[in-house]
Amino acid sequence: MPLPKAELHLHIEGTLEPELAFALAARNGVELPYADTEQLRKAYAFEDLQSFLNLYYELMAVLRTEQDFEDLANAYLERAAAQGVRHAEIFFDPQAHIARGVPMGTVVEGLWRALGRSEENHGVSTQLIMCFLRDESADSALETLDAAKPYLDRIVGVGLDSAEVGHPPVKFREVYEAAAALGLRRVAHAGEEGPPEYITEALDVLGVERIDHGLRCMEDPALVERLVRERVPLTLCPLSNVRLRAVDVLEEHPLPAMLDAGLLCTVNSDDPAYFGGYAGDNYHAVRDALGLSTERMRELARNSFVASFLDHDEERRAR
Ligand code: HPA
Ligand code: ZN
Repeated sequence: MPLPKAELHLHIEGTLEPELAFALAARNGVELPYADTEQLRKAYAFEDLQSFLNLYYELMAVLRTEQDFEDLANAYLERAAAQGVRHAEIFFDPQAHIARGVPMGTVVEGLWRALGRSEENHGVSTQLIMCFLRDESADSALETLDAAKPYLDRIVGVGLDSAEVGHPPVKFREVYEAAAALGLRRVAHAGEEGPPEYITEALDVLGVERIDHGLRCMEDPALVERLVRERVPLTLCPLSNVRLRAVDVLEEHPLPAMLDAGLLCTVNSDDPAYFGGYAGDNYHAVRDALGLSTERMRELARNSFVASFLDHDEERRAR
């Protein structure tokens, strides 16, 4: 039996497996610039975050209808459930779809067709977090929040993703203030490729409750001390860090040092179709590469529920 766990850092578009990409391309009459799944998989050799994002956005062309988003989410939930995921807080990137002429409603309603039935169909409770693309403008983020207003009963919070360096959190102060005023929870990617200062800024300027990645906090001992003191959860994604070259090899991942420092670390999959594994695969990989004890593994699973947006009664039931 896999350890029951919550997944807190998962981009639904990053769960698009090559087989499903080709099936949806055929269904929608979309031409992909790859002959087959094998050739596509060969493109999964990334240099950095941007080289991954290029492919990630390119493949989204196959996602066009509510049915596509429903199928995508169901495929993820089935795999996640098999790896012990009992609760998933799922990111989506509406701007990447709206820019292609796929409206917010198609994305949210399509995802909801799967998420709304996930507890009965997969035994996984879910929440949806809408991300703003940080390499798009602040005005575009505000327009996106506006477009989401009819769907706020289905969206628990907002996040910030895409190319980090050169797009500091402060750029999104206004939209995060507006999101807070609407009662939305707030998280942001920070310290994946960007400097530790972006983590501080995400906390102080955007008022986030969790930091996605946060790996580079380790360069700033005072920041580590603060994150420990304030019990700020970090949603780490070890296999992603190796594939995007944030760390050289998994054996050198700072996770053990981060846990030793007292940081509230969780282990997640980020974009599992691209990075070689779902939540359980990430747990196994860190256990094997870093020699983590059973107690450490249990701590990670426990942290995932503590850091989730479930209330504590729900949290106990999910565990
Ligand atoms: N980082 C930033 N943006 C992203 C990622 C990531 O790992 N995955 C999808 N969008
Ligand atoms: Zn991410």
